[in-house]
Amino acid sequence: MTTSIPHGGTLIDRRRYGAEWPTNAVHIPLDDIALADVELLANGGYSPLTGFMTKVDYEHVVSSMKLENGLIWSLPITLPVPEALVSELTIGEQAILEKDDIPYGWIDIADIYQPDKEEEARQVYKTTSDAHPGVHQVYTRPNTYVGGDITLVRPVEHGLFEAEALAPEETRAAFAEKNWQTVVGFQTRNPVHRAHEYIQKTALETVDGLLLHPLVGATKKGDIPADVRMKSYKVLLSRYYPEERVQLSVFPAAMRYAGPREAIFHALVRKNYGCTHFIVGRDHAGVGDYYGTYEAQELLKQFSVEELGITPLYFEHSFYCNECEAMATAKTCPHSSEKHVMLSGTKVREMLENQEAPPKEFSRREVVEVLMETYKPGITQ
Ligand code: ADX
Repeated sequence: MTTSIPHGGTLIDRRRYGAEWPTNAVHIPLDDIALADVELLANGGYSPLTGFMTKVDYEHVVSSMKLENGLIWSLPITLPVPEALVSELTIGEQAILEKDDIPYGWIDIADIYQPDKEEEARQVYKTTSDAHPGVHQVYTRPNTYVGGDITLVRPVEHGLFEAEALAPEETRAAFAEKNWQTVVGFQTRNPVHRAHEYIQKTALETVDGLLLHPLVGATKKGDIPADVRMKSYKVLLSRYYPEERVQLSVFPAAMRYAGPREAIFHALVRKNYGCTHFIVGRDHAGVGDYYGTYEAQELLKQFSVEELGITPLYFEHSFYCNECEAMATAKTCPHSSEKHVMLSGTKVREMLENQEAPPKEFSRREVVEVLMETYKPGITQ
């Protein structure tokens, strides 16, 4: 059994499949981000949260990265509702949560409030610029938030990823089945390149198992689509990883690109999935130049491992060194940068757009083949 205890002590479960629907309730439409949040609130991925944040928790999280009860929590989990609906909502009543006219569950309305979005952007994203994709998301969603516990009545479907969409109790059961005591979680929104493989395997040398946990919720324009990535993960795992040491599963949340704050969130959530360790490399969950290369690591280090309840494993920027003829970081390689193969995400995308293969020192042949096969010019637009 993995020794990881869910955040707050208990794995939350707010799934009541087939429960009777409230009658005469207002319907609140969910966007992709909110539907993924409903699922993760319901299945315990976001334990100890039991619903969308009320104003008190929201303000605590924004200002101090803690819930009102003192537990660490770094990102607001909020339900913005369209302006036209606000006057129809009443505290103490229930509203049905639907997406594309399909009802998924309901919320017990505990709070209706106007957030200070600029403050949210400044504190959580460290910029108020609309050019930041996470801030842009915050600004373009409606301006009133509704807080309260949720209940999920209809399972959320995962299309192509149904078989890999394990809930926290299922990843925990899979780890127990494999008799893993220690498990390192790996968050990614990219194909697994050599640098990712290197830090995963280095971590795996010291623990029992690896949870490869790609985020498959909403990502920004320019990121490689999740279905393409999944193909690349499967081919890579089948060729280069021992089957009994890796569990592949998807993380349905949306990307926020909140860098340091999102790294804490990613770690806490992976603890809920049963991980005891979590990898944080360079510019975790970052975008553009908004965050320093190791800012996520620095923020995590402000909290004790006891407080986090999961052990972060930090990695420096890794690369292939032509002189060492191996993957390395500045900690293990004495050679200068001309010897290092380093490509930015933008450069790789450019190469793929031009049907040009990134070098094998950067990415395994099999991964490149999947990317080139599936990559049609304009796919990331
Ligand atoms: S993220 O937005 O999901 O963090 P990405 O998929 O690129 O982006 O990264 C997944 C994890 O690998 C993160 O912890 C990130 O810090 C780490 N990482 C990515 N590339 C490197 C690299 N070259 N060296 C060290 N760590 C890296």
